[in-house]
Amino acid sequence: MKQRTTTALLLFLAFCAGAAAQSSRKGLKDAYKDYFWIGVAVNQRNISDETQKALICQEFNSITAENDMKPQPTEPEEGVYRWEGADRIANFCRQNGIRLRGHCLMWHNQIGRWMFTNPDGSLVDKEVLYERMRRHIHAIVGRYKDIVYCWDVVNEAITDDPNAAVPYRQSPLYEIAGEEFIEKAFEFAREADPDALLFYNDYNEADPVKSVRIAEMVRQMKEKGVPIDGIGMQGHYNIYEPSAQDVDAAIERFSHVVSHIHVTELDIRVNREMGGQLKFKRDAAAITDSIDRVHADRYAAMFRVFCKHSDVIDCVTFWNLSDRDSWLSEQNYPLLFDRNYQKKRAYDAVIKARKSYRKRRK
Ligand code: XIL
Repeated sequence: MKQRTTTALLLFLAFCAGAAAQSSRKGLKDAYKDYFWIGVAVNQRNISDETQKALICQEFNSITAENDMKPQPTEPEEGVYRWEGADRIANFCRQNGIRLRGHCLMWHNQIGRWMFTNPDGSLVDKEVLYERMRRHIHAIVGRYKDIVYCWDVVNEAITDDPNAAVPYRQSPLYEIAGEEFIEKAFEFAREADPDALLFYNDYNEADPVKSVRIAEMVRQMKEKGVPIDGIGMQGHYNIYEPSAQDVDAAIERFSHVVSHIHVTELDIRVNREMGGQLKFKRDAAAITDSIDRVHADRYAAMFRVFCKHSDVIDCVTFWNLSDRDSWLSEQNYPLLFDRNYQKKRAYDAVIKARKSYRKRRK
């Protein structure tokens, strides 16, 4: 607790110094200061290049490590920890007074097979899984507890199949322990840092069927005493879907279950795919002026919905800094900055969108 107070003070001082140095350079974070924090997912290049560093500090006041805090990169083999990438991002945040979202503790992707298999490849029993999960979660959460203010504890545990009898994704973790693995992950994270806000995070979260499943799971677990504080809406959208109404309805639904909602991975691509699947199309349509307008309008529509719910949304994070960095590739045109880190039309649309709502100071 003492460490946290000291860090809070240092962060505050860094904020003051930063604010004095940059008072004339306002960005997204300033435009939205009365609504929610504005975050960005970063890779190592983003925090090494001077232009990109300056852009991050000007526009954003929350950071997520795009890959460097995930299970496999941080613990590729049992007990073998690789902290270099995560440390660099944590230090960048400490030096610049930027808060850090932790992403992510348990996920079926980017997790070492050692976590859930025996040497012969068979699945471990659940006691072994829990012990391995507990050690991993304590190691990473403990290491960054001075700077990480919240964690995506479990990522993407709900199925995409609307007709599935069971709402859960059939991952090895689920196969071993059923939904109890989700509960245990939250319990271990709370043990490791009682002060961090703990999130369940998923994509296609505005889908009417999936959003009900997410809300129901979180509601039931909270009723049992599982320490879930918030729901992360990934927000990997496209220029056609989901509708602003569906996003609005999902936030409304989640707000009856949790008092913290974060939009955790926002991008809007220009083809018809969406969601968090790691396989996707890169050959998007040509970017005409009208596509550029639609893209900007979609961002504006989403931000109007987020502003409407700023009492419960604490943070909106973009998944990557510029189109050049995007996990979806530049052809998908998904972000507010182009390959040269210049503002696109969507940037201005986002800035203007907040004016549609009366400011609500938290
Ligand atoms: C993505 C990263 O952006 C890629 O670099 C990586 O190859 C795969 O993962 N949902 C999530 C994120 O929760 O962690 C994913 O990030 C995108 C989908």
